[in-house]
Order: sequence, then structure tokens, then C-alpha cells
Amino acid sequence: MRVTLFGASGLLGQDLVQELKAEQLTALSSKDADLRDHSRVRDVIRDSRPDWILLSAAYTDVDGCELNRDLAFAVNCDGAINVAEAAREAGSRLMFLSTDYVFDGSKRSPYQASDARKPTSVYGESKARAEERLLEIQRGSPTFARDLASALVQLCRASARGIVHVTNAGDCTWYEFATEIVRESGLPTTVQPVTTAEFPRPARRPAYSVLSPDSLHAYNVRMPEWRDALRRYLGSAAALKS
Ligand SMILES: NC(=O)c1ccc[n+]([C@@H]2O[C@H](COP(=O)([O-])OP(=O)(O)OC[C@H]3O[C@@H](n4cnc5c(N)ncnc54)[C@H](OP(=O)(O)O)[C@@H]3O)[C@@H](O)[C@H]2O)c1
Repeated sequence: MRVTLFGASGLLGQDLVQELKAEQLTALSSKDADLRDHSRVRDVIRDSRPDWILLSAAYTDVDGCELNRDLAFAVNCDGAINVAEAAREAGSRLMFLSTDYVFDGSKRSPYQASDARKPTSVYGESKARAEERLLEIQRGSPTFARDLASALVQLCRASARGIVHVTNAGDCTWYEFATEIVRESGLPTTVQPVTTAEFPRPARRPAYSVLSPDSLHAYNVRMPEWRDALRRYLGSAAALKS
């Protein structure tokens, strides 16, 4: 399988590069191709002739997006459209990485891929707009790092179409997550919870952003539980140190 990956230098992109070792991969950072440069994007896609394009590149600084709305839309929406148009011209399939921030977090049950988008931040807005525009051009899919990379490649192999939610299984609060990290690491410290109001940030985050895995399970792809993912992450981090 020939794959062209935008965002190869990012958190997820680096894991995708590992996951795609056996494939014919063209891995691109912003220095290789800026999403905003339509002709450059078209050239790299025409030259690499991919079966699949994985669009992991984005302006992901959620708070920065609040201050730089034009940049957020130029990269996350218009840049994604550049890739989608070039993908259509080249006959390549596109997998677009979206975000749970396209939802407002007011639900108290897991979000379905079909739920209405209601972003509360510029970042979420730019991604939601990209989803809408890309669905008019090609099919895409939203997401989450190492487990995610594995699931994304399974979806490619399963010829996935439409919007697919991918996260580790189960859910927790930031406090529960921090507590579990400290417990698993055996650190002699305790974590004190704070409310969102006590930790103000420029961008509003969804209070509830659990995504239903139904659309992923439809492809027989299962994600491990988040505590299991955390244990494996801490194990690999410890192995790197020793
Ligand atoms: N991490 C999360 O928690 C999370 C959650 C939900 C959704 N997502 C989505 O998942 C995807 C991957 O996220 P991530 O955490 O891996 O992001 P990241 O670590 O911030 O990496 C961003 C990547 O995008 C590239 N990039 C930025 N601006 C670009 C531009 N103008 N043109 C071309 N490339 C550009 C960066 O390249 P340089 O290194 O060259 O700048 C980098 O490779 C994104 O689409 C993000 O919205 C992430």
C-alpha cells in the first residue's frame, strides 16, 4: 500500500510512521509541504501517487487558535480542502483526523459519529467546518497515539469509509487520569482535583467528550482500555530511561 502522511513530525504522525514501516510511505512535515500551499500539496500527492493519504497535520494549539482564527481556518479547514482536492484529482483515498472538540460536550451519553457538530472553540469550529467541506469532496474520519496509529492502519486495510470515532476504551476525568498516572508510576504524591472554573483557559473545552465506538466496531477494530494503554506507555517510558 502506498501511503502519503501529512503531519509525520507530530505526536500521532510519529507513531503512524512506525506503524507504516512495511508500507511505501511518503512522510511529510510542514517543511516538506505546507497545507496552505495548494500547488505544493498537489505536487507531492501527484508525485507520490498514494492509495491512501493520512491527513494528521493540523494547527493543534487549541488556545492559540482562539488568538489566531485566520491561521486556524487556513490550516485546519482550507489546508484540509487543498489536500482533499488533490486527493480527488489523484484518485487517492483520504483519511482526515478530526477532533472531539467538534461537539459542545453537553450530552451525557457517548457521542455518535452522526451527532450534530456544535463546536465551542475556534479549533473545534475549524475542524467541524473541514468535516463538512470534506464530506462534500471525499470521505474522512475523526480520531486519538500508538493504539490510534494501529487502529488507523487497520481501518485503511478494511477500506473504511465515512466518519469513524477512535479513542481508547473507557472514560475518566482529567483528575482520575492524573491520579492513575501517579498511582501506576508509584510516585510519593497525591493529586488534588480542581474545577474547570479554577483552571481557566482561553478556549472552552467540552465538559463531556466521550465518543461512541460503534462506528469503529463496525469494522471489527477494538481499542484497548485507557488504563491498559497508560500502563504500556509508562512501561515503554521506563524502558527508555534504563
Ligand atoms: N493529540 C490529541 O489529543 C488530539 C485529539 C483529537 C484530535 N487530534 C487530531 O489528530 C491530528 C494529529 O494530532 P497531533 O497531536 O499528532 O498533532 P501535533 O503533534 O501538534 O502535530 C501537528 C503536525 O501538523 C503539522 N503541521 C502543522 N501546521 C502545518 C501546516 N501548515 N502544513 C503542514 N503541516 C503542518 C506539524 O508539522 P511541523 O512539525 O513541521 O510543524 C506536525 O507534524 C490532528 O489533526 C489533531 O487535530 C489530536
